[in-house]
Amino acid sequence: MNSSSAPASSLPPEAGLQDLLEALHVRRSIRTYDGQPLRPAHQAFIERYLHDGAHMTGPFGRRVRIELLQGLPKDMQVGTYGYTKYFDAVLVAIAKDDPIDLFEMAWVAHGLVLQLTHLRLGTVWMGAAFSQQSVRRNLSFEDGEQVAAIIPLGYPRDKKRLFDLIASKGLASAHRKPLDFSCFVGSFERPLGDEQTDLRDALDLARFAPSAMNKQSWRVVLNEDARQVHVCAKFSLRHKIGMGFRQYAVAPEYIDVGTWARSFDIATRATAIEGTWSIAAPDLALPQDEDLEYLCTWTRSAAGGA
Ligand SMILES: Cc1cc2nc3c(=O)[nH]c(=O)nc-3n(C[C@H](O)[C@H](O)[C@H](O)COP(=O)(O)O)c2cc1C
Repeated sequence: MNSSSAPASSLPPEAGLQDLLEALHVRRSIRTYDGQPLRPAHQAFIERYLHDGAHMTGPFGRRVRIELLQGLPKDMQVGTYGYTKYFDAVLVAIAKDDPIDLFEMAWVAHGLVLQLTHLRLGTVWMGAAFSQQSVRRNLSFEDGEQVAAIIPLGYPRDKKRLFDLIASKGLASAHRKPLDFSCFVGSFERPLGDEQTDLRDALDLARFAPSAMNKQSWRVVLNEDARQVHVCAKFSLRHKIGMGFRQYAVAPEYIDVGTWARSFDIATRATAIEGTWSIAAPDLALPQDEDLEYLCTWTRSAAGGA
């Protein structure tokens, strides 16, 4: 790992809520980079972020471990089997194979991804299709820790691609399921439909969170007065978990739900709707014939309107 030489005064400021809202609109996975190393100011920005306890702590209080590797050896490109090319830096997301550990890691890492989007850096989550060995050899691990995902980052080779094209929401929406696919009211039997709720814009934007194979594994149930949102993972990639070629080290759905929750949290806060996260025991019937798991609940703060 290199250490940065950028003076603190040259560090880009952190994105505020409205910037992050914009980043939610425009973020897109970037898989081809220009091969350039991170500029010192960007490197220093990331290092400062990774050392900031508040940024690196998830909503349930766990400190997340993410390492920045730079100056990657050429065979690191081989490490992604050519799916993602010409990046010089990568974030390595390390977590225990535990639902909430993975959720919090994704929450924290997605926050950083959005900061990088704001700085016009490209990113792509990779849960599979990289060689664990090529990443692990540079790092040490505590018991139970593993590389849950990596996030190559850098400057997109096609500069136009990152923002000019993606600023059009129309393009993005072509790649996401409609709201009724993942959002319900009262129970899993009632899709959101035309339900009037001030959460609709945030739910709509959170659909664009990154997810493994774009499976959009989050399933959320609003209670009747939209004061709570219960968040579940829907599993469809269990058969792809393992240590082999194109396998996920951990269930990627927990990560998907973490990126969704962070997106939802930013989108609500940016429109002055405050809420908190908890792990509750909601009275929520999970359909027997679906592979679903409850993870957590968002609860609107008392003064937060409805
Ligand atoms: C947990 C997770 C794992 C992912 N793994 C891979 C991967 O192994 N290879 C890849 O090319 N993209 C991977 N992605 C990126 C998704 O394919 C991408 O987010 C999704 O298709 C939506 O596209 P978008 O990010 O451009 O909005 C992963 C995303 C997540 C959240």
